[in-house]
Amino acid sequence: MQTITDAACQVLTTQDPMDKVRMAHQMANLWRDNLLSHENNGEHTAPLNPARPKTPELVSQNNLRRRRLGSIEGRCALLHAIAHIEFNAINLAADMVARFAHSTRITDADRHAFISDWVGVCDDEARHFTMIANRLLELESHYGALPAHDGLWRAAISTKDDLAARLAIAPMVLEARGLDVTPNMIKNLENVRDFESADILKIIYQEEIAHVAAGTHWFFNICERENRKKETYFQDLVKQHFQSTLNPPFNEKARNMAGFPPSFYNP
Ligand SMILES: [Fe+2]
Ligand SMILES: [Fe+2]
Repeated sequence: MQTITDAACQVLTTQDPMDKVRMAHQMANLWRDNLLSHENNGEHTAPLNPARPKTPELVSQNNLRRRRLGSIEGRCALLHAIAHIEFNAINLAADMVARFAHSTRITDADRHAFISDWVGVCDDEARHFTMIANRLLELESHYGALPAHDGLWRAAISTKDDLAARLAIAPMVLEARGLDVTPNMIKNLENVRDFESADILKIIYQEEIAHVAAGTHWFFNICERENRKKETYFQDLVKQHFQSTLNPPFNEKARNMAGFPPSFYNP
């Protein structure tokens, strides 16, 4: 029987985006059908850098052009940036499984639920990527047509040895930031009457709340068992692993729905 770690490593080492998407869905289907074992045979380990296609070219964020949403080019630029985030999110969720499925900071009693959560997130991210990539095709562009932000994997590398840090930075900082900014993107797209793109972002927004909730749930789980003060531990990890500070405005309503209280992120 294939192991869950092998399946997650396959997602990470697949280069072509649509093949990666397929591997993510396949992992989720096999896992839900109990066709992947928990066994840790140590055969595969998560690569430091997941495979990615030759394009998009990765450039520093300062070199990315911002364009007005009124033009098709502007909307494609926004959607392309989101596609790149979703592509990285597939890798982040697969890496959570590949790297941390056997973490000793998760009890054996909780392990199945922990893996199920991140396999589910990986499945969602693959679907998000597909929705945005298809929308780009409708607008006669594609993922890879524009340069993209080179820094999205940095947080993954910085937190590769510490599950609590990974939970703090990936779902609780980065995905929560997505909750802060997405409602305005939806509004702006509706203002230029791109309802198709806005509707896709509405679906993504709803599902991202559950991703932040999963991150918060497992972070709290670790804190409780290790007798750590949640807020200060979170803040210490953010200081250690996240280059910039957490800046308002925060979407408190969505963050509260994810069980992530303001005492963590309000300075
Ligand atoms: Fe997503
Ligand atoms: Fe997500």
